[in-house]
Amino acid sequence: PSTIIKKLFLEGKMVTVNTEIDFAGAEEIALEYEIMCEKEVKVDMIEELLKEEEENEADMTSRPPVVCVMGHVDHGKTSLLDAIRETNVISGEAGGITQHIGASVVKINDRKITFLDTPGHEAFTAMRMRGAQSTDIAILVVAADDGVMPQTVEAINHAKAAGIEIIVAINKIDKPGANIERVKQELAEYELLAADWGGNTEMVPVSAHTREGIEELLEMVLLQADVLELKANPDRMARGIVIEAKLDKGKGPVSTVLVQKGTLHIGDHIAAGANYGKVRAMTDDRGNRITEAGPSTPVEILGLSGVPNAGEVFVAKETANEAKAFAETFIADSKEKLLEGTKYRIS
Ligand code: GTP
Ligand code: MG
Repeated sequence: PSTIIKKLFLEGKMVTVNTEIDFAGAEEIALEYEIMCEKEVKVDMIEELLKEEEENEADMTSRPPVVCVMGHVDHGKTSLLDAIRETNVISGEAGGITQHIGASVVKINDRKITFLDTPGHEAFTAMRMRGAQSTDIAILVVAADDGVMPQTVEAINHAKAAGIEIIVAINKIDKPGANIERVKQELAEYELLAADWGGNTEMVPVSAHTREGIEELLEMVLLQADVLELKANPDRMARGIVIEAKLDKGKGPVSTVLVQKGTLHIGDHIAAGANYGKVRAMTDDRGNRITEAGPSTPVEILGLSGVPNAGEVFVAKETANEAKAFAETFIADSKEKLLEGTKYRIS
């Protein structure tokens, strides 16, 4: 402050440390003391890197909803997904779905839904931080015999923070201790008011064991998807998010990514956070080898130079150099951000 006060004094402006200055004055100071401006720019480098042109509405076509299943431990999230897949097997539309990756695609009446069995899943934590872009709808599973529990509340908060729609599945209604009304009452305390109570949250009583209510739950998901009018341009370079990644002794870095825009092909140059490479192989959620993956499709890919972090954005680029440049900028900015904290303390 003393430097700035001195500078302003020399310009004939009588100021103290508490004086408010106008925008032009602030800008002038900021420009003179380059560091401040520079800092602003550096903070936004990754954002800048990820910035894209607004997409042309005419190029957009409808895409499947991406739904995460959340809730308290043991409330039946995985069972519910299993039941959903079995329903699908019975209808003969997409039998034998094996969950090779942390995501699965289910086909209902010719419409696809991408599910992420996310709860307790660290990938989802990272995805939440990236905001609403990763998931469209949350199914909040609450066991009717247990009610709202700490992780139920946590899940509600995460979904709200991400700005995604919540559909409640009140599960285990086949159990003797099930109390659907009590669950609705408890949820009302967290600003989730059931539609049949005059609110706008759909709450569907279900049983993963008897499969009661599952069709209705899926209908709600598709209805919600219709309301959201989910669209993406399939004819552009792919872009999406890393769901999970690991190092496989034989295959090297194996990453599960969700394609959100565009189409990813074998041979595409890609970058994900600090890693880059070329897509060598792709596998869908059933373990089938595929050559391309469009919007809302989860795929396992081989070919990145290292293991990216869950939640990081991946982008396909025209050339190997562009992909490499993306990763290098990412690395440089991450370092800069780390240093910045130190800089503040010194000055
Ligand atoms: P985490 O992933 O560990 O958080 O658990 P989860 O929410 O995925 O629960 P999971 O599907 O593993 O189910 C937990 C237990 O509840 C299992 O023993 C299931 O058999 C049982 N369960 C799940 N759904 C139902 C249901 O609708 N009725 C009854 N009676 N039991 C259920
Ligand atoms: Mg589970």
